[in-house]
Amino acid sequence: METLILSSDYRDIQTAANIIKTGGIVAMPTETVYGLAADALNGKAVRKIFKAKGRPMDNPLIVHISDISQIYTLVREFPKRAQLLADNFWPGPLTIILPKSDRIPDEVSAGLDTVAVRFPSHPTALRLISLSSPLAAPSANLSGSPSPTTAGHVCDDMNGRIDAIIDGGDCDVGVESTVITLAEDPPRLLRPGGITVEQLRSVIGEVIIDNAVTAPLAKGEKAASPGMKYKHYAPEAEVILLDGNNEKFRQYVNDNGRDGDAVLCYNEDLGTLKLPCIPIGSENDTETQAHRLFSVLRETDKLNITRVFAHCPPTDGVGLAVYNRMIRASGFQIIKL
Ligand code: TXA
Ligand code: MG
Repeated sequence: METLILSSDYRDIQTAANIIKTGGIVAMPTETVYGLAADALNGKAVRKIFKAKGRPMDNPLIVHISDISQIYTLVREFPKRAQLLADNFWPGPLTIILPKSDRIPDEVSAGLDTVAVRFPSHPTALRLISLSSPLAAPSANLSGSPSPTTAGHVCDDMNGRIDAIIDGGDCDVGVESTVITLAEDPPRLLRPGGITVEQLRSVIGEVIIDNAVTAPLAKGEKAASPGMKYKHYAPEAEVILLDGNNEKFRQYVNDNGRDGDAVLCYNEDLGTLKLPCIPIGSENDTETQAHRLFSVLRETDKLNITRVFAHCPPTDGVGLAVYNRMIRASGFQIIKL
């Protein structure tokens, strides 16, 4: 199939909306990462997403809305806590899981009794949804690779596999949305993202952090969020996280680096390391690190690197989102220095 490359002009978004309305699939920019969208109420169209990504069918999708009124057809209940989260963080990088209505096709919810809903803030995504319908959209990467944060990344993975890509430039946040489930009490964070757990707690009080956010699933443990059980965000190179202060980090890298290795470093490390360096941002600027993370992971593929050393990120604020992606990219390989 030929993949159409579209701009964010009104007419091009209208073209994309027509593709969606006739059962096609389109990659769209959002403020987090690019999504691969289909009409959320058309099970047959949604199945094409799984095929294009090579995504296991038991991994449910997020439904994206452009107006809060759309949520009432998607969920059975809209509790007070959901209203509070929506008032404070929508539109934006937060996904809320609620009991699903019977209008949600099984392909979207992967057989669960719940549905994940997000109201993105990106103007192109919002326009596409309003011109078509609520959109089921996972990240627009091949299953297992880092999520795409530019149209070029989407093209690398999806050219020839999907109907169209809307080029909306660089994504702002750079990591996928925060996912919280309100289908249980107390609410539980399933995936950290641009909206921090500290922000969530300031609005709805107690929020539990699911074990899978910071640790591998134990043998036989069931994933609350099916996506957590799959290998994720992994570039070709082996990623090794180093947990220790900057001095120890630099020493370890300089003592152990060999040909074919590179370092995802902080800007402050530049000039102190003997290996090729790919800076990910300033040490304390976790927002920039989140913004650049998937892009630098993809860069290592282009540079034919075999091993990558990286700092083990802090786990507060947006750092938790970076940490969660990095431990998966590394297959949980962390060396304590
Ligand atoms: O920022 C984002 O969330 C991006 C953009 C495109 O909106 N989307 C995204 O979708 O990251 P995806 O499919 O790559 O990740 C969705 C995660 C998966 O781990 C999935 O298992 C989980 O959310 N999820 C979806 N529906 C769920 C449900 N009903 N219950 C538990 N987990 C769910
Ligand atoms: Mg994904």
